[in-house]
Amino acid sequence: MQRTTLVPLMRFAAEPANAAAGPLRLLELGCGTGRFLTFALDALQSHPGGVRATAVELSPFYLEAARRNVDYAARLRGWPAETAAVRFVLGSAESMPELADGSQDAIMCVYTFHELPPTARVAIAREVGRLLRPGGVFVLTDSLQLGDRPSIDAEIPVFSQLNEPYYQSFLETDFADLLRTEAGMRPEWKGLRSATKTLSFRKPE
Ligand SMILES: C[S@@+](CC[C@H](N)C(=O)[O-])C[C@H]1O[C@@H](n2cnc3c(N)ncnc32)[C@H](O)[C@@H]1O
Repeated sequence: MQRTTLVPLMRFAAEPANAAAGPLRLLELGCGTGRFLTFALDALQSHPGGVRATAVELSPFYLEAARRNVDYAARLRGWPAETAAVRFVLGSAESMPELADGSQDAIMCVYTFHELPPTARVAIAREVGRLLRPGGVFVLTDSLQLGDRPSIDAEIPVFSQLNEPYYQSFLETDFADLLRTEAGMRPEWKGLRSATKTLSFRKPE
């Protein structure tokens, strides 16, 4: 259900001001093998101004796989050269000094927050606030949390026992509060699909 991320992302891209604003500057945090990035770039390949994407990943092995997957998808799908020219950054999303303040229109992060210790969640929220330009969007996709589907509240914490030491604290995190206090952002959209939740937040103009 990674693709739930596309709902707020594509809505954002289609807003008249964003469609007319030149290349959409898209950043993915924790891109893993890049599989979802290929979906997003494919969906955005006809964005009027093109797409200029950056992918940040902690693991050099995943980053290399992402590079290969993007190259393959670009050839298979015939993306414009600019769309295919993804900038891959090896590093931690808690601190991305290579990227300038306000340099991104949209940031997405899929299935990574549940792996992060609470201090990293705070640091990343701050980086999101720094990197987005005013009016930019942050799309966060991850597991359902407690209260999203009360009927399974007793079952979802079991995932904590599967080598996921930060999952319980993830379940209890109030992301609206985190993004407001650390990044000055406001909640925009929430979508639930199967065991996945997507939240989007906007940085005020
Ligand atoms: C569960 S995987 C999800 C990967 C991908 N987003 C997806 O949906 O398939 C989490 C990814 O986040 C990366 N990651 C974990 N902590 C990170 C951090 N602090 N900064 C950047 N990447 C991180 C991991 O290496 C891993 O590739």
